[in-house]
Amino acid sequence: MNPLLASDAGLAYDSAMETARTIADVRRAVAAARGAGKRIHLVPTMGALHEGHRSLLRAARADGRLVVASIFVNPTQFGPGEDFERYPRPVEADLDICGQDGVDVVFLPSVAEMYPPDGRTTVHVAGLTKRLCGAHRPGHFDGVTTVVLKLFNIVQPDAAYFGQKDGQQVAVIRRMVADLDVPTEIVVCPTVRDTDGVALSSRNAYLEPDQRRRARCLIEALRLGEAMIRDGERRPDTITRAIRARIEATGGCTIDYIEAVDLATLEPAAWIDRPCMLAGAIRIGSTRLIDNVVVDVSDGGG
Ligand code: PAF
Repeated sequence: MNPLLASDAGLAYDSAMETARTIADVRRAVAAARGAGKRIHLVPTMGALHEGHRSLLRAARADGRLVVASIFVNPTQFGPGEDFERYPRPVEADLDICGQDGVDVVFLPSVAEMYPPDGRTTVHVAGLTKRLCGAHRPGHFDGVTTVVLKLFNIVQPDAAYFGQKDGQQVAVIRRMVADLDVPTEIVVCPTVRDTDGVALSSRNAYLEPDQRRRARCLIEALRLGEAMIRDGERRPDTITRAIRARIEATGGCTIDYIEAVDLATLEPAAWIDRPCMLAGAIRIGSTRLIDNVVVDVSDGGG
């Protein structure tokens, strides 16, 4: 039996999981499944997998699909002085999780495999990438779109899964896929949160206990903004001022940005009269945390 199909025969998921370290190997694994008539679903990750990633893996896993998870800490999306070197890389634990969640193929390339030294091409989405996180992390989204398009070209997935927690990343990737006619459906899954509301993130591991307690202020403040909109407030400045004040009252956090933006274009909202995203980034010590809430006043809210 083709081991790629074993998970559909009722065997334990991980007994069939294949680990591919080269582009040629992952292409071979995917081609065999595609030849057998399977749809291919890709979950791109940088590893250090938590419940947020697991929700993507499970969503990608449906009968008759081949799930490919990529685990690659992508150097081109980290700026100078950012946490590329210290980014957690618990590969064995990640492989266990992939096995438990029914991943068929794990793509674990090296940096040299993804970025041969003669590479000269970068994917740049104009406009959307200048704002929010892009304003504070120059070049970050060029790194994201370049690696994501490479992964799409390597795996050629029918669908790819991303978390709403990275709301700007989702908007940028949707734009890239539309502009470059990439035949991959982008599926966005809800943010997974800890019991106190803090969005799960591999970077939460950097926080000391006191910092972790303070981290709650970001989602609490964004939810305050959401409640204001639901109560009828439509002035973005009034809302973002209240969000800032709530974070500042916590102390120990620096605000990178708090904005109310149009969900698709990421342009600042002039008035809250269409689906918008309240998005924020704060720093606690050397750890940068992001989060967002989506509010659609046309769904009866406000
Ligand atoms: O969201 C992430 O983990 C990364 O930005 C991604 C999409 C895997 C690209 O490296």
